[in-house]
Order: sequence, then C-alpha cells, then structure tokens
Amino acid sequence: MMTNLKTILIPAYEKKYAVGSFNSYNYETFRGSIEAGVETGTPIIAAFGAKYLANMSLETASALVHSLAEPLDIPICLHLDHSKDMEVIFRAIQAGFGSVMYDGSALPFEENLANTRAVCRVAHACGVSVEAELGSLAAGRESHEGEATDVEKYTDPKAAKKFVSATDVDALAVSIGTVHGLYKGKPNIRVDILKEIDQALGIPLVLHGGSGTPKEDILQCIANGIAKINVNTEISSDAVARSAALLAKEKPHFSVLSLHQVDFVKETVKKYIAFFRSH
Ligand code: 13P
Repeated sequence: MMTNLKTILIPAYEKKYAVGSFNSYNYETFRGSIEAGVETGTPIIAAFGAKYLANMSLETASALVHSLAEPLDIPICLHLDHSKDMEVIFRAIQAGFGSVMYDGSALPFEENLANTRAVCRVAHACGVSVEAELGSLAAGRESHEGEATDVEKYTDPKAAKKFVSATDVDALAVSIGTVHGLYKGKPNIRVDILKEIDQALGIPLVLHGGSGTPKEDILQCIANGIAKINVNTEISSDAVARSAALLAKEKPHFSVLSLHQVDFVKETVKKYIAFFRSH
C-alpha cells in the first residue's frame, strides 16, 4: 500500500527503529528495494532523487511505484530525495509522491526556513510529508550525489529547534559526521550532537550517507532519534561489481541480466534492513 512519510516514520521514531530510504532510478532498483520489503515484512521508502530525472520522469517513477506497491500489504512511501528546485517539488506532489525533501541546506538559514515553510503549506494540504535539511555533509568515495567541494557542517541543535517550530517539517535531515558515499577513513559519528538535536526537537530525524556506516554507529543513531536512513552508493557499487563479475563469465540475455540485478539490489537492501531493525 502507498502511504506518506509521516505515517511510516512516527511509529519508527516512537519504537526506536529506522526505515530504509533506498535510492532508486530504474526498474531494477525500485523492484529490488520493494521486494526486499516484501520478503522481510518491513516498510520501504522508495527514494527518487531529483538528480536522476534524466533516468526517469517523476510521472514514470510514480506510475511504476504505484503499480508495484498498491497490491502489497507493506507500507511503501515514494519520496523525492534532495530537490533544491521548488518547481520539481510541486510537480512531484502533483505526480503522486507521498513525500518530498526540500534541500535548502546550501542557502542562508532564513531563506531555507522560508522556502521550507512554503513547501510544507502546499505539501501538507495535499497529505504529502516534507523532509528538510540543516547543516551539510562532506562527500566520501564513489558518491554520485556528493561533490569533492562539499563541506561538512554539523547541524546546530538550537537553530534546528527554531527551524522545526517555524516550518512544521515532518522530518529533519541532520549532519553529524556521515558522508555521501563510502568513508575515506574511520567514521566519526557525533552521537553527542544528535542527542542534543533529538532532545530539542522530538521529531523523526534522518541520516543521509548510510552507505558503509558501521552497524554499531547506526544502532546508536537509532537510539537517539534517527528514524530514516538513506542508502545510495552501496546499492549501486555492489550491483555494478556483481554485474561486472557475471558478465566476465557469461553474456546473458538483457532480460536475464535485469533479473540478476534486481537480486543484487535486494541483497544489499536486506542487509541494511537487518541493521535498521525495522521488523
Ligand atoms: P550514500 O550514498 O552514502 O548511501 O548516501 C545516500 C543519501 O544520503 C541519499 O540522500
């Protein structure tokens, strides 16, 4: 069944588990993630990033996810990941997304706040949830989303409190030491900052940069307010490495290769679902 983000995240936040938000941009990634949810009996956030509009339109992503998810018993939310463009956000709402992320994190605080508030007004009137971001993540290895110039800026708990009360966002993405992509060294996840943010806000928090984050850190984050964890890089790098290994041995029909790739995606997603304890 299709639902919005809030419906999935409130029980996760209250019962202290996290729901995976798995970046998807083609049939294999959407189907692999959703089948992983079915096989583990867990909710899934199917995240379509504005970055992937060259791969699929908003309308195609929505039609695909609705047709895969509507007959199912598990809750599925189609979420627009990282959009800086309000027009794309409003089109996603119109196309049937259950959740949108307005990413104004690179803007001055007041501008991010004003834009996020405007998005919330429209989205909430349509029953669509909103995620926003304060602070910024650095980029690690192999990230397709982060840039080498991205600067790490931790989320300030006091600013976060002001932002959430003024905007009415449903979930806030925080910067506490994770990176977009694979870590270059040992991760230094600032659970102390997260704890302060969680105590100040009391709403579901979002961890971007899930790939490669050690299980112990993930569990600490979930214990301190993280209810949604985004994974992109590892799904792609595993699927590409395993496709390359398969193609080195055999040259299957394209349709058979696609089915193998659904399984590669599914296995990575299931590994993260087990970390997130969402079942
Ligand atoms: P990773 O690529 O590090 O998994 O991060 C994904 C993400 O945060 C998507 O918004």
